Amino acid sequence: MKFAHMNAALYYSYTEKAPKKIMRVIYDITYRCNLRCNFCYYWNQDRERPNIDMMKHRSELSTEEIKNRLIPQLKKAKVTHVTITGGEPFIKKDIIEILEAFSKDFHLTLLSNLSIESNEKLDAILKYVDSVKASIDLEKVFVSTRGVEGSFDKTVNSIKYLVSKGIKSLSLNAVLTPDNCTEISKVVDMAHDMGVKRVTFQFLDWQTPATIKGTPFLQKPEIFGTLVNEVTIDADKALEQINLAQEKAEKYGMEFATFPVLLPLTKEIIEQWYTNADYQYTTKCLVPWFQLRINPYGGVMPCMEYDVGNIRDLDLLDIWNGPKYKGFRKVIRKGLLPRCNKCCKLDKSYSNLIKIKS
Ligand SMILES: C[S@@+](CC[C@H](N)C(=O)[O-])C[C@H]1O[C@@H](n2cnc3c(N)ncnc32)[C@H](O)[C@@H]1O
Ligand code: SF4
Ligand code: SF4
Repeated sequence: MKFAHMNAALYYSYTEKAPKKIMRVIYDITYRCNLRCNFCYYWNQDRERPNIDMMKHRSELSTEEIKNRLIPQLKKAKVTHVTITGGEPFIKKDIIEILEAFSKDFHLTLLSNLSIESNEKLDAILKYVDSVKASIDLEKVFVSTRGVEGSFDKTVNSIKYLVSKGIKSLSLNAVLTPDNCTEISKVVDMAHDMGVKRVTFQFLDWQTPATIKGTPFLQKPEIFGTLVNEVTIDADKALEQINLAQEKAEKYGMEFATFPVLLPLTKEIIEQWYTNADYQYTTKCLVPWFQLRINPYGGVMPCMEYDVGNIRDLDLLDIWNGPKYKGFRKVIRKGLLPRCNKCCKLDKSYSNLIKIKS
C-alpha cells in the first residue's frame, strides 16, 4: 500500500470515519464459476450454510452499468487500485470490454483460474491487466477437487501461453488444504517449469456455524462461507512442505510467500490456524479504512459479507461515509470478530503499526 494511504488509514483508524479517498476496491464481478473447487466459499451451495441461492435471482451489474455507473463512482472516490475476482471473471459476458474499461483509470489486478481456451481472453490480460494471480494446485489434487475434467490442462496451457508472450506480473496461488499439504512444495517446481517467477500459498478460510453466529454483521441470509465443524491437517508435513517450497524457490530464484500468515511459520501456527476456529493470528485490522468490496449485484461490503448499501441506489462515497460502514468500523476498531480469524486479508503489520501509534 502507498505510504500516504497507509498513514491516512492509520490516522482515521482511531475513529469510525474514513479517509476521503478509497484506495482499493475488490470487485467480485460474478459468483458464477466454471469450476467447483471443494474448498471454495462462492459456488458451493451443498453445505450447511445460509442460502446463497437468492443471489442468483438478482441481476449482476451489466456492462453498461459497470461502465456508466460503477467506474464513474470509483473515479469520483479517487480509487487507484481495482482487483477483479469472483467467482470466475472470465465467465462474465463482455469481460474483455470490461477489462479494457477498468484499465484506463486504475491499476488492475485480476484473480482467475485461467481454465479457459480463448487466446482472445488471454491477450486481453496481456493488454489490460497490470497484475495477474492465477489459482493452481498439484495436478492430481486439481483433478480431484475442482470437479471439472480437463480443467487442469486448460489452466496450465493458459499459464504457458501468457509466459510465452512475456507476461511480467503473473503469480500462482495454491490454497494449502488437507488434500495437498503433504506434497504442496511441488507447486513451486511446476511454476518453475512453466517459467513463473512468483508463488503464494494461501491458508484456508474456513468458518464454523459458531464463528458466523458470533459475528454480528453476518446474521443475514446473504452471508456465505466455507462452513464446517472442523478441519484436520498434518501440521508436521505442511510445515516440512512449506520449508521445502521456500528452499526450492530460493534455488530457482523465485519469490515465495504464504498468506495471510507470514513466513517463518511454526507447526503451532499451522495447527492453530487449521484446527482452532478461535485462534487469533493477529488482533487489529486496517482494511475497512482503505478498501471495500463490491459484489456482482452492486452491493457494497466493507470486506466480510455485510451489505452496507448498493451502488445502484447510492453514491459510493455516501456508502463509504454512511452509518452502516461507520458502525462496522466502530466495532472493528475495538477488536476483530470471529469471522475475521481466517480472513485472507489479515495482516500482522497493522497490529504492529497500531501498537506503535498508541
Ligand atoms: C475465490 S477465487 C476467485 C477467482 C478465481 N475463480 C480463482 O479461483 O482464482 C480467489 C482465490 O481464493 C481462493 N480460495 C477460494 N476458496 C478459498 C478458501 N476457502 N480459503 C482460502 N482461499 C480460497 C482461490 O483458490 C483463489 O486463489
Ligand atoms: S475457480 Fe475460484 S471461484 Fe471457482 S470454485 Fe475455484 S476458487 Fe471458487
Ligand atoms: S480481518 Fe475482519 S475486518 Fe479485517 S478485512 Fe478481514 S473480515 Fe474485514
